[in-house]
Amino acid sequence: MAKKDGFNLYENKSTLKWIVLGVSVIISGSSIFYTNLLVNKLKTKEKTFIRLYAKALEYTLSEKVSTSENINFISEEIIYQNNSIPMIIMDSLGGIYGSKNIELDSGWTLARRNNKLRSIVASMKKDYPPIRIAPIDKETGKPYLVQYLYYKNSSLLTQLTFYPYVQLTVIAIFAFIAYWAFNYSRTAEQNRVWVGMAKETAHQLGTPISSLMAWMEHLRADPEFTNHDILTELDKDIHKLGMITERFSNIGSVPKLKEEDIIFEVNRVLSYLRPRISSKVEMSVTGRHEKIYAQINVALFEWVIENVCKNAVDAMGGVGEIKINVMEGSDWRVFIDISDNGKGIDHSKIKHVFNPGFTTKKRGWGLGLALAKRIIENYHQGKIFVKSSNIDQGTTFRIVLNRNHISHNLS
Ligand SMILES: Nc1ncnc2c1ncn2[C@@H]1O[C@H](COP(=O)(O)OP(=O)(O)O)[C@@H](O)[C@H]1O
Ligand SMILES: [Mg+2]
Repeated sequence: MAKKDGFNLYENKSTLKWIVLGVSVIISGSSIFYTNLLVNKLKTKEKTFIRLYAKALEYTLSEKVSTSENINFISEEIIYQNNSIPMIIMDSLGGIYGSKNIELDSGWTLARRNNKLRSIVASMKKDYPPIRIAPIDKETGKPYLVQYLYYKNSSLLTQLTFYPYVQLTVIAIFAFIAYWAFNYSRTAEQNRVWVGMAKETAHQLGTPISSLMAWMEHLRADPEFTNHDILTELDKDIHKLGMITERFSNIGSVPKLKEEDIIFEVNRVLSYLRPRISSKVEMSVTGRHEKIYAQINVALFEWVIENVCKNAVDAMGGVGEIKINVMEGSDWRVFIDISDNGKGIDHSKIKHVFNPGFTTKKRGWGLGLALAKRIIENYHQGKIFVKSSNIDQGTTFRIVLNRNHISHNLS
């Protein structure tokens, strides 16, 4: 059951992620598409209007009869109606006739005003070609007073063009902050559970262990039991219980790191494991030097090596070879590569193996690597990851430790 549950949880989580991403892309896409549609409609409308405006202007100039009712109508209904599209009219020699809907400071000198308008004309030219206004002189029948009308999008249209991007950016920022806050509180909660459970376990184990120790002393004093095998075995088990308590109590508090010889510590774990696993599994440690030092908490570090090696044994089905290579990566780092020739990890699953609850074993809990990652990253400021893995060929885990002391950051 544990296998199925843990596995589905992470599969579903990534499916859910894709769905959320897909829906967001569709929403953003359609929002941008729809606004673009509106923008284009409005653009056509403004263009039509500005053409009409130019025509009206041309017409009134051609008629030259200011009393005509037509002209009054045209100037009132069309020319004065433009109160949104910025425009500038220039004559054919480049002199400025006038402007509309462009903000100009009334305190400016004429030269400054014209300069400003000229620079706006330059930018308008890039967007739309000017409209030529050529009123016809009734008497000669020829165009006179040729002018050019430059214009650009109204500010409403410009705003509308940027609107969806502004909106989406705001939403994205909000979503990011919400996600971060949610994640943060979840991590904080998980930390409290880990630490709380560990402390409680260590605390509860303490009492029976002291009691067992007292009984041991009692038995040792008894002539019937002195030098009996039972005492040696009992002593070993009590020792093991003490080790478990130490692990839990270390993970429940800020553990002390000390400079230790990694090769020696790894060898110690291997000699503890050897009698407990299949004799067909070979285990060896190699290192460029006899001793390689790093900052560790022995009890927790042993726990990590034990978990990774046990997984390797499981992956090999009882026959194979585990090679541990300890290297001085740099002046600051020590690398520990743990390789097996077991069944390997499926590529799609590599990113899940450190998740609590992820297991592919019938009787697995999926906590071994989650714990290892926690110990290495939170308590040792190091790294643990799958360096390589090939199906039916084997897997290499790499642990990176610090050689020098780094202050703790238990978040
Ligand atoms: N050396 C390895 N070779 C192949 N698969 C591995 C190896 N180490 C870990 N795994 C995979 O990662 C999963 C999680 O490991 P772990 O957290 O220790 O939980 P558990 O051992 O309880 O399954 C394992 O079920 C297995 O599928
Ligand atoms: Mg395991």
